[in-house]
Amino acid sequence: MNPDPSFWNGKKVLVTGHTGFKGSWLSLWLHRLGAEVTGLALEPHTKPAMSRLVALHDLVDSHIGDVRNPELVARVITETQPDVILHLAAQVLVRASYDDPLYTIHTNVMGTANLLSAARAVDGLQSVVIVTSDKCYENNEWHWAYRENEPMGGHDPYSASKGCAELITASMRRSYFSEPGTPHVGSARAGNVIGGGDWSTDRLIPDIIKAFAAGDEAVIRMPEAIRPWQHVVEPVAGYMILAERLATGDGAEAEGWNFAPFDSDVKPVSWMVEQMAKRWGDGASFRIERDGPHEARYLTLDCAKARAELAWEPRLGLHRALEWIIDWHRAHLDGEDLRQVTLEQIAEYEALEPKSV
Ligand SMILES: NC(=O)c1ccc[n+]([C@@H]2O[C@H](COP(=O)([O-])OP(=O)(O)OC[C@H]3O[C@@H](n4cnc5c(N)ncnc54)[C@H](O)[C@@H]3O)[C@@H](O)[C@H]2O)c1
Repeated sequence: MNPDPSFWNGKKVLVTGHTGFKGSWLSLWLHRLGAEVTGLALEPHTKPAMSRLVALHDLVDSHIGDVRNPELVARVITETQPDVILHLAAQVLVRASYDDPLYTIHTNVMGTANLLSAARAVDGLQSVVIVTSDKCYENNEWHWAYRENEPMGGHDPYSASKGCAELITASMRRSYFSEPGTPHVGSARAGNVIGGGDWSTDRLIPDIIKAFAAGDEAVIRMPEAIRPWQHVVEPVAGYMILAERLATGDGAEAEGWNFAPFDSDVKPVSWMVEQMAKRWGDGASFRIERDGPHEARYLTLDCAKARAELAWEPRLGLHRALEWIIDWHRAHLDGEDLRQVTLEQIAEYEALEPKSV
């Protein structure tokens, strides 16, 4: 199931975090579906940055500002009068959250509260999707996949901030968004998202691509960590489908949703780096340096609910996802039109049959 152009065409959509990796893919896709996209985020924090490479500012009414500022968030929302809000803005890195926990908590928790508080004042708002993370769950380091009804938690400040964002979302929903005529508010928890255009530090695929492109050895810190890897098109499609269902449904969907890959795509970091080196070629290599603060070793999500009730399911598969990432970054190195490359991958995804691995 794909996002429905007849729903999105002409919709006013506010995307927070549009200057980031997932926000860039989401904003391009929404524009392709005919939505009028407004963005709220900080300037891109990477160089290069996907939003600049695809010239997103030509397609999106871009507001540069901080979601920690409640007046600013309220002003952008009031001016935009969105039909749909997709909230992605966040400090997203586990290591950075150890370095500056207060910034992470302020951005991820209060940013979400500021947004939902301001959303109360918008007439005609139909749905809100708050994007959190697979890391929002209390991680027991066990082999079972987490379901939506399991407790929130988090060892590191990033994970805890996402668990808190979930609790704030649930509280605001019960307090302000449960009466008839109020927008329906859902939250989305995806796994480790990969794709072309991510240059964040301390993330596996960006670290590998940066090293390989420079002819350097990639440095891997947790080879045994197991994660649910998924190409960015998969959860981004899920966020849009969830927003549609929230907007058109009776409120039953106003809760948390997992968007996870195929079980067979839950893989250790060591497998990922070996595959990337093999596919990149050119003598690409890596070494292991174990260091750094605590990070979860085992984490996977159960997406049975999204399959059954949203008719969303993973379609791409990890092997193809890795091919698409390499194609995207090779296109970057060759100076190709990256907006075009991204839109072609989105179109290819839309054309995939279910379970086409
Ligand atoms: N990439 C993943 O593997 C992954 C997995 C699960 C969940 N998520 C979630 O998806 C969302 C997007 O992640 P991403 O990978 O695109 O990250 P990213 O770092 O590329 O993008 C983050 C965006 O948030 C904005 N932002 C950060 N702090 C802000 C602030 N104080 N005020 C306003 N904007 C601010 C940035 O400007 C950027 O636009 C985040 O909520 C993240 O927690 C990501």
